[in-house]
Amino acid sequence: MMDRPVGVIGAGRVGTALGLALVRAGYELVGVNARSEASRQRAADVLPGTPLRDVPTLAKSAGILLLSVTDDAIGSVAAELADGGLLQPGQIVLHVSGACGLAVLAPATEAGAVPLAVHPAMTFPGLPTDADNLAGLAYAVTTRPHDRPLAEELVRDVGGVPVWIADEDRTLYHAALVLGANNLITLLAAAMEALMAAGVPDPGFVLAPLVRASMENALRHGDQALTGPVRRADVGTIEAHLRALRDRAPHLLPAYLDFGLNTARRSRRAALNEAGRLDEVIALLEARSAEARDDIDR
Ligand SMILES: NC(=O)c1ccc[n+]([C@@H]2O[C@H](COP(=O)([O-])OP(=O)(O)OC[C@H]3O[C@@H](n4cnc5c(N)ncnc54)[C@H](OP(=O)(O)O)[C@@H]3O)[C@@H](O)[C@H]2O)c1
Repeated sequence: MMDRPVGVIGAGRVGTALGLALVRAGYELVGVNARSEASRQRAADVLPGTPLRDVPTLAKSAGILLLSVTDDAIGSVAAELADGGLLQPGQIVLHVSGACGLAVLAPATEAGAVPLAVHPAMTFPGLPTDADNLAGLAYAVTTRPHDRPLAEELVRDVGGVPVWIADEDRTLYHAALVLGANNLITLLAAAMEALMAAGVPDPGFVLAPLVRASMENALRHGDQALTGPVRRADVGTIEAHLRALRDRAPHLLPAYLDFGLNTARRSRRAALNEAGRLDEVIALLEARSAEARDDIDR
């Protein structure tokens, strides 16, 4: 694979980070396509010296075309490449979306290109360190059966581990990551807000060890890692929390209720406490959720 030069279409957060990781792995980067000033600046910052090229020029010179555009644009870029007669048989056309499978690359495939879907299971917020996080990761790979070795080699070259995902499972795979990782950020941001309202000047310092330990425990033991008032069915404590949130941070109350209900139902399903005691927690949270909804409607 390393004898195939790479062209990056989409100088966004992932395109530039993955481009840099490929260069570090020994691949030749022949150019990057960047439309907006922000993308051109990002390309200059992360991939200094890499020429900016239009799509036809990149397609002509790259054996691997990395379509690191937004999910919604992958199909139109693949069509642009195919309709323009820009692809050669055997040329690799790769996207990095977790939610999309191979269908979105169909125009390129029909034009003779090799379609690969390779999703690094990592977050790329656009920090200078993004490319450093690419080794040791799972990469969700979907290919036609005979193209597997190509994807495997590419992923191994950047230090990753391929995890094969069937085309029809890809959206569910990605929904799972959003549930576990994106939502975690929202949850932690809300927790930090509540801590600041409680007068804690550095909420990250308070949360970090607790969150890291909880995360490690959950990754190892799933629901069994749960501690806290819901699992204990400490109804009095939960009621006190609801009062405090209503009085001091009412905008966080719906999230506490939603997550609490989820936690209580999962606890019951995993038999983490007596079903009757968890039923009491569920009834309390359901009643308070209904009241909160009525308040919003009023
Ligand atoms: N960010 C993450 O954490 C993450 C993680 C794993 C996978 N991914 C996947 O990586 C891909 C890119 O996401 P991102 O977060 O890097 O997005 P991003 O930072 O918004 O970058 C998207 C890039 O695509 C360019 N673009 C959009 N439409 C285009 C088109 N029609 N032709 C040419 N360029 C076009 C944009 O250019 P302009 O700004 O110049 O318009 C921009 O440079 C997506 O498929 C996403 O699902 C993202």
